[in-house]
Amino acid sequence: MEFPFYYEDGELYGESLAISTLAEEFGTPLFVYSKRHISDTIATIKTTAKESNGNWNISYAVKANSNSEILKLIASEGLGASVVSGGELVAALKAGFPASKITFDGPGKTKEEILLALRSKIKAIVVESEQELELISREAAQLGVVAQVLIRVNPHIDAKTHPYISTGLLENKFGIDIVEAEALIDRFSSNSVSIIGLHTHIGSQISELLPFEETAASLADVIKRNHSSGKKTLTHINVGGGRAIAYHDRVKHPKLASDPDPKEDLIPSYTEYFNKLTAIFQNTGVELTVEPGRSIIGESCLLLSKVLYTKANSKRSFVIGDAAMNDLLRPSLYRAYHQIVPVSINVARALQTTSVVGPICETGDFLAHDRMLPAFEPNEYFAVLCAGAYGYALSSNYNLRPRAAEVLIDGDFATVIRKRETIEEIL
Ligand code: LLP
Repeated sequence: MEFPFYYEDGELYGESLAISTLAEEFGTPLFVYSKRHISDTIATIKTTAKESNGNWNISYAVKANSNSEILKLIASEGLGASVVSGGELVAALKAGFPASKITFDGPGKTKEEILLALRSKIKAIVVESEQELELISREAAQLGVVAQVLIRVNPHIDAKTHPYISTGLLENKFGIDIVEAEALIDRFSSNSVSIIGLHTHIGSQISELLPFEETAASLADVIKRNHSSGKKTLTHINVGGGRAIAYHDRVKHPKLASDPDPKEDLIPSYTEYFNKLTAIFQNTGVELTVEPGRSIIGESCLLLSKVLYTKANSKRSFVIGDAAMNDLLRPSLYRAYHQIVPVSINVARALQTTSVVGPICETGDFLAHDRMLPAFEPNEYFAVLCAGAYGYALSSNYNLRPRAAEVLIDGDFATVIRKRETIEEIL
């Protein structure tokens, strides 16, 4: 899959549009998405899933990016949706995802959210504790419906990712210990609940295939035991999301410094991913679901920022832009790496080591520390790449900063898909 942004004559483009023109037209900070890249990514995921000969459903993890136009686009490609709140459920239904393709994850659903899910007749609620299962059973009985549920198991497998986004270890709050889950499935009996299968999600930005394989193998064991017991009640497996994307060296130019990360070479292709997992569940006859977020939307977007000032002291040099941690929290929260590139390359500029920071009054407000970048001058623009997943979704009004606008490029058109917030709206 080609990266959606590229240089031509030293100018950064997205599809057929020069990014600098978007900065002038829509202002900054600005999230810029490529429609073609989103559609092409989805097509690749669908094709590779099909080619593996597994019985796969693809369900988009709405939390990665819940812009309503992006959701409509993804729904129109025929994907399902994985939601984690009443708000996301409403947004998914509104965007056109059929209820029969929506699952509701999360360890702390309220009674109101459970009722909303039951009334909306979604495909399944993903249960993370015995108490939640009992509450669903009571509410479903009152409504006179049968709730379809998946039990989220915690397989105690190390996803080898940042500890804040690792979810499959017993130290993490997610799911039910796999041994206890199996016992619960055997023991639990309710006329208002049908436990149709298992769910798991071991973490995000996972760059190795092995943790996915180990997790799948332990789920397959539970399925096989269930089937050989003669009950055969478990017919669905949801393996969660988590496949990593590469954040380094995505856009290249002879005037830019290369900054590779060897770990990214390990990221499995979707072909490898589906082939391996399909093989593990072969002969179980179960319906399979994967719920990616980052790998669908992450690469499709850049965050555009304007340089306000530059300065240097005897220790460090700084570029102060108008995008901040309230626009893109990932560097501050996880020390996450996002490639930063100038929107226009000036060949006369030398490279220098710089920190790229925002205007917020916190030392933690940075987009990058000590990067080799061409020197910048005020009013020039830079782009922070791979900002589509957990970018706008994690943004806030900290320091009473209005949230950025979002635009979608389609060929040589760009449309605003969310207006820039105003102070009046926030207040
Ligand atoms: N399914 C469940 C149950 C999840 O909790 C998540 C993400 C996904 C699917 C989608 O995972 P993905 O394919 O996007 O890795 N804010 C963090 C990432 C948090 C992920 C939370 N769960 C970041 O910016 O790296």
